[in-house]
Amino acid sequence: MEPRIQVVPAVPLAPELTIVVPTYNERDNVPVLIERIASVLDGVAWEVMVVDDDSPDGTASVVKAIAAQNPRVRCIRRVGRRGLSGACIEGMLASAAPVVAVMDADLQHDEALLPRMVEEIRKGADLVVGSRYVGGGSTGEGFSSIRQWGSETATALAKKMLGVDLTDPMSGFFMIRREKVEAVAGELSREGFKILLDIVSAVEEPLATVELPFTFRGRNAGESKLDSLVTAEYLGLLFSKLSGGVLPVRFLMFATVGASGVVAHLLALYFALDVLGYSFEWSQFFAVMAAMTWNFVLNNQLTYRDRRLTGLAFFSGLITFYLVCSFGTIANVGVASWIHGFHPVPWIAGLTGAVMGAVFNYAASSVLTWRSK
Ligand code: GDD
Ligand code: MN
Repeated sequence: MEPRIQVVPAVPLAPELTIVVPTYNERDNVPVLIERIASVLDGVAWEVMVVDDDSPDGTASVVKAIAAQNPRVRCIRRVGRRGLSGACIEGMLASAAPVVAVMDADLQHDEALLPRMVEEIRKGADLVVGSRYVGGGSTGEGFSSIRQWGSETATALAKKMLGVDLTDPMSGFFMIRREKVEAVAGELSREGFKILLDIVSAVEEPLATVELPFTFRGRNAGESKLDSLVTAEYLGLLFSKLSGGVLPVRFLMFATVGASGVVAHLLALYFALDVLGYSFEWSQFFAVMAAMTWNFVLNNQLTYRDRRLTGLAFFSGLITFYLVCSFGTIANVGVASWIHGFHPVPWIAGLTGAVMGAVFNYAASSVLTWRSK
């Protein structure tokens, strides 16, 4: 009689590495990416965690169909939320593996780096960054010259202002020990996309870091979601960091727009007085309306571009913004007069009032005008 071979059920190995892949409309790219990851990561217990922000192209269902066949693939479908950094954070925190990586879905990041990153981590590194600017790396055809310039400037600023010494702090391709991320998770900005810079400047003790060069390829299918405004947002993150995180990025953008509104106000005032020949009172009223409209449009384009209001919602948003600003003015004048009452230094009272008004407008408009869906 032939000896019976006892079949031991295959117990899947707990993953050693979670590769977090944030996606928005990447239906045609993710399947290719997963195949490529599988082909390079022999001998590593890996899993892929796709974090999809409810892409209209159905990326999540494509990924879940793969996951139904392949236990190494998982998908988090987030509804009612957008944002690259937030998606990466959630993916990393959903992992139980000791090591996590972040990688784009569009095949711009060279998967051949993955096994080498794992090797560096196994040798003791805390963080391994795929860099376009360390010897041998390049942005290949994947970058426009204007973004190249923005990226270089931002890198220099990160060095000067935050003391972050990476050749490519904006890289979206890195591997890190999960415990390092867990430790600072609560401090990370969910807005924007500068997740690596954010982590590196938040950790207390310096990370043992290795940078590996790679060539940033051209995007495969679909289109980029990051526009030239990312540089403005990045500057916001730098200032937010400098304030010790007290001032959120959005408030800084809101305040900058507000400052430009003062200029718009004065231009409109002189236009109404000199060109239209209105009385001062009417001109001032005209200028207030012009400045509020200016602020609304700019905030809608920049500060809240991830929640941009269009069509009918644009007009109802504008009305709520006028309302918010009216109450903001009451808060402004009220506080200024109150302070002036016991401390009659006009500029102190005036400035405090203006700051109060700005904070009020920011808080109220984030709830009433650009509430997240
Ligand atoms: N979940 C989610 N939510 N994913 C997003 C979102 C979002 O709101 N926006 C973009 N993504 C995903 C994309 O689907 C893609 O997989 C990845 O994030 C990168 O987005 P791209 O639109 O391809 O960005 P990019 O190629 O212009 O920018 C890349 O290079 C930059 C270097 O300057 C990214 O890697 C950036 O992180 C990197 O800083
Ligand atoms: Mn891309």
